[in-house]
Amino acid sequence: MKHTPSSLTHNNSVAEAVLEGLQRQPKALPSWLFYDARGDHIFQDIMRMPEYYLTDCEYELFQTHKQVLLSRFSAGVDAFRIVELGAGDGLKTEVLLQHFVSQKAALSYTPVDISGAVLAQLKTRLQASVPQLDIQALQADFLQSLTMLETPPDTRQVILFLGANIGNFSLPKAATFLQRIRQQMGAKDLLMVGFDLKKDPRLIQLAYDDPHGITRSFNLNLLVRLNGELGANFQLDKFSHYPCYDPVSGAAKSYLVSQRPQTVQIEALDRSFSFAQWELIHTEISQKYDLPMIEALAENAQLEIQEVFYDCKHYFCNVIFAGKSSA
Ligand code: AVI
Repeated sequence: MKHTPSSLTHNNSVAEAVLEGLQRQPKALPSWLFYDARGDHIFQDIMRMPEYYLTDCEYELFQTHKQVLLSRFSAGVDAFRIVELGAGDGLKTEVLLQHFVSQKAALSYTPVDISGAVLAQLKTRLQASVPQLDIQALQADFLQSLTMLETPPDTRQVILFLGANIGNFSLPKAATFLQRIRQQMGAKDLLMVGFDLKKDPRLIQLAYDDPHGITRSFNLNLLVRLNGELGANFQLDKFSHYPCYDPVSGAAKSYLVSQRPQTVQIEALDRSFSFAQWELIHTEISQKYDLPMIEALAENAQLEIQEVFYDCKHYFCNVIFAGKSSA
């Protein structure tokens, strides 16, 4: 879920989101605010850290199962179109795309992102690494994109939502999101989602509380961004990064904790906000799943699980869903 805003319109929506979030009790800021240019870079660093196992797991899973995935995506149709929601840097998807093209599969690739800059970079990279690939990037909101695409008959739409991005929705929001996707899926279409699984709680805790301080900078970058874009005066050393994982619900949540009583001015909002000592700003949820939770999501969205693929440690899974025929 990458949004790299720069326009005035987006600045307004940043301001609106911040006003809404800081008026809440408890205070919260939406996690899409992480992804400005600096946040995008820090996230790349996160994906390279050994503690953040998710990226390597999904990469390995694609390497292992790319042949089977191709047979599932291409079965019974003349061609398929991969629509990737929130493609980001597309590094893992590249493994699949390269394989599919090398097998002469009839496919096209539509990465969808709200940020034109992210799409342009991705397109340039893929044109160099998979030159034969037909790429039709689409700058749009995820759900809106599915209504904009016209699929020729005998072409399957394969919608990808990878990288545990679904974890950045609360469970009820993930359910609504999947329902909306389901409404846009035809009888032949497939949806593949990457889920991070419940596992040793200490491993999950470490992934969001790394000893290098990279996730800490990622979380605090939110305040850096508000200082730059909205003329706020958050003092970075007066807020600390606090991630905590609840193994029962599977919710890994990140907070910024006010280290002392303080008041922060935000010029663009013409307002100030007070923080009590130890008051929290909730900045992110990274929901972890088990199979019964995934089954419940599917049931709720009138989706049927076709197949579950795991990495060798069973830390992560990619699930292929099809629409239930009764839906
Ligand atoms: C993008 N998303 C799936 C990441 C996650 O694991 O929730 C973002 C992230 N936050 C902290 N580390 C990584």
